[in-house]
Amino acid sequence: MLDAAAKALEHVEIGADYRRLVLEAPQLSAALAPGQFVHVRVPALETSALRRPFSVFDASEGRVTVLYKTVGRGTSALNGVKPGDVVKVLGPLGHGFPVECDGEALLVGGGYGVAPLHFLARALKTSGHRDVVAFIGGRTSSDLLAVDELRALGVDVRLATNDGSAGVKGLVTDPLDDELARLREEGRRFELFACGPDPMLKAVAMRANGTGAKGWISMDRHMICGVGACYACIQKTVRGNSRCCVEGPVFRAADLVWE
Ligand SMILES: Cc1cc2nc3c(=O)[nH]c(=O)nc-3n(C[C@H](O)[C@H](O)[C@H](O)COP(=O)(O)OP(=O)(O)OC[C@H]3O[C@@H](n4cnc5c(N)ncnc54)[C@H](O)[C@@H]3O)c2cc1C
Ligand code: FES
Repeated sequence: MLDAAAKALEHVEIGADYRRLVLEAPQLSAALAPGQFVHVRVPALETSALRRPFSVFDASEGRVTVLYKTVGRGTSALNGVKPGDVVKVLGPLGHGFPVECDGEALLVGGGYGVAPLHFLARALKTSGHRDVVAFIGGRTSSDLLAVDELRALGVDVRLATNDGSAGVKGLVTDPLDDELARLREEGRRFELFACGPDPMLKAVAMRANGTGAKGWISMDRHMICGVGACYACIQKTVRGNSRCCVEGPVFRAADLVWE
């Protein structure tokens, strides 16, 4: 685990309260795997011991990129980081996604949940995996992140919005179910990878369990220490309580217990 002093190279708005922060952190960048997260100390909150956890959107060429939504005190303060500022970043943390897949890789994401799926898509493509389909959902078109970046990787992207402003009108599980029906008809294998809001994650986990396919679900739980010491981030599993920051954030769908 590294505690990097990372220089901010770029920090831009990408619409609808979302920002992209690119950090220079060569050692950390080389060590990160898709689905792992970093714990960021917000410079304006230096007096607070608390960090904020973020998934990694990309780690390449000595850079670590995160996409974040401004929701409260920490993320609002993070808005103030300017290119050239130094940010302390702890990582790599947690267990990520497997970078292999038996059959078609079905990536399902919503909101900032798309971030780790982009990193995974890049890794799958780099390892020669051809069939990667991403299902991205949101309330409206401005909630759909990283669509162009995923397409640039050669990923087949299917969109769904509640208001129909992009893709099909409805839930992200609507185009996913169409694809699952097609794969079943053709007798093809697949695995599911998901990150986003809990109801979406549960819906994807149920589909993995219901079809007997492997499902990899990245859980988002409030964290304090990020390194396994405080037990703030408990997720119920078939093996009992697991710490999201150590045993997760990515769990097998079959292991998760939903409240
Ligand atoms: C493994 C992991 C990966 C994450 N990846 C990303 C990411 O890539 N991009 C991103 O924008 N955010 C991500 N988050 C969520 C992010 O950590 C929180 O939004 C952030 O810590 C909020 O800090 P704050 O001080 O601004 O908000 P606070 O002032 O602490 O809270 C403001 C509001 O946000 C809610 N909130 C706080 N933490 C979380 C959380 N973990 N999940 C959902 N709601 C929360 C609070 O309940 C409250 O309603 C991730 C969280 C985890 C656990
Ligand atoms: S955040 Fe402290 S144990 Fe997970």
